[in-house]
Amino acid sequence: MLGPRCVDYSRVCDGHYDCSLGLDEANCSRGVPCSEKTHVCADGTCVKKPNPRCDFVDDCPDASDEQDCDCGLAPPAGRIVGGTDALEAEWPWQASLQVKGQHVCGAALVSSLWLLSAAHCFSDLRLLEPNLWTVYLGKVLLDQRSPLEERRSLQHILLHKYYQPDHYDYDLALLRLKGPSLAQPACLPPPTYLLPPVCWVTGWGALHEGGRSSNALQKVDVQLLSEEACVGSYGALISPRMLCAGYADGQKDACQGDSGGPLVCQGSGGRWFLAGVVSWGQGCARPGYYGVYTRVTSLSTWVWEHMAP
Ligand code: ARG
Repeated sequence: MLGPRCVDYSRVCDGHYDCSLGLDEANCSRGVPCSEKTHVCADGTCVKKPNPRCDFVDDCPDASDEQDCDCGLAPPAGRIVGGTDALEAEWPWQASLQVKGQHVCGAALVSSLWLLSAAHCFSDLRLLEPNLWTVYLGKVLLDQRSPLEERRSLQHILLHKYYQPDHYDYDLALLRLKGPSLAQPACLPPPTYLLPPVCWVTGWGALHEGGRSSNALQKVDVQLLSEEACVGSYGALISPRMLCAGYADGQKDACQGDSGGPLVCQGSGGRWFLAGVVSWGQGCARPGYYGVYTRVTSLSTWVWEHMAP
């Protein structure tokens, strides 16, 4: 048995005794048998503490949980529907994917050379040609240059091989830049990463259903739903590669033009992890419906395999 059943797994090894015998705080700094909840270190040993990845604490005996962690940090912060204007440099991993000067989709930088976006952004086969695209990083206003703005070309567009255009299952694309970006990438969560209750989605999409794209990058907080609640709303359209977020009464959501953009969640060390990629939804911000995102933790192994330099 991994740990006590008296508390939610997110409270295991958090430095607070929640169980009467304190079992939730036992064996936190030593290896434990591997299970679907434990983090796997590079040396194959397993750690019980939830989300040890890039939290500024060495948890693995080989410290692999703190390797390649130059990610997820944005300067302290001071449509999307129902959101507010983003600040300069607040979401440094946010990219605008453009064709002929038009914003088409969002994307998120996950290393100096790679971005994640939605496969459906490339569903028109003509759009699979990397040279058609221009990638902008560091932008806030679409019609104005930002001080930190970078403009890059694409070298490769790789769609997930199981992507289903008719169901939006495996709606993930991995994009390789021709030259490295200096912008801060979002952290990629390992498959066992536990997501917090509230995360943020950003993009230049429509400010309301049927509306036009926003000129200013928007941000909005959304609640993550359980898979059951998501299936309760959309039924069999939901696959294990999808993640729902939003509110039962609507109001806050991603919308057309936000596709491919990031849903990020802040970890305990303050770093932001890419939990989802904007994929689809019934309208935008409608009561009883939610935004559906590609669930990055269910595909991060695929991402790591294909990003290998
Ligand atoms: N498919 C849309 C796009 O291409 C994104 C839709 C997201 N919808 C939502 N209600 N969250 O931009």
